[in-house]
Amino acid sequence: MKFFLDTANIDEIREANATGLLDGVTTNPSLIKKSGRDFFEVITEIAKEVKGPVSAETVAHDHETMLKEGLKCAKIADNIAVKVPLTIEGLKTCKALRAEGIMVNVTLCFSANQALLAAKAGATFISPFVGRHDDIGFDGMDLIQDIRTIYDNYEFNTQILVASVRHPVHIHQAALIGADVATFPADVMKKLANHPLTTNGLAAFDKDWAATGFSIL
Ligand code: E4P
Repeated sequence: MKFFLDTANIDEIREANATGLLDGVTTNPSLIKKSGRDFFEVITEIAKEVKGPVSAETVAHDHETMLKEGLKCAKIADNIAVKVPLTIEGLKTCKALRAEGIMVNVTLCFSANQALLAAKAGATFISPFVGRHDDIGFDGMDLIQDIRTIYDNYEFNTQILVASVRHPVHIHQAALIGADVATFPADVMKKLANHPLTTNGLAAFDKDWAATGFSIL
């Protein structure tokens, strides 16, 4: 399972990348706004920092303009995945960008049928939003399971990128289902490693080791 960081904050990306566990980055217009930085400047910097796919989202709603935006974004670096919305115009753009060999992440997916369309359009990644689904009283993970089943039924290569992740339980469930990628904020990455029994166990070992007076180095 690949781990992407869902942020446009370069400091968070550098810190996560230093673990050696980071496989890519996703951004969206809201995250770009939050970074307070120029779109092209920050995407260029992220794409240099991270070897794996870096999603840069288009903002036009019509196919022609969206395609121009996507082609421009793809020129930033070889590891750019152009993000397009799950609309008919977005799917047309996905197909056109894929024909150029450009990675495409189809975003704002909220149904299995939408995910089926994205796979048929040749998407590299489909981004179903689990947290926003939970917010309105549906279990976002049911959607991930349905997409996994459909993609396996037809042997689609589109990678399921679980997005709008809010907490470690989402990651646990996504991994059990067999999602290909999860993208999440930096605090979730830290929460994945934390366990009170690990913390307590380490403190006990520290205390006993100090009492021995031994040194390994
Ligand atoms: C990532 O590609 C999505 O844009 C992001 O995960 C959305 O997350 P949110 O629902 O927390 O805004």
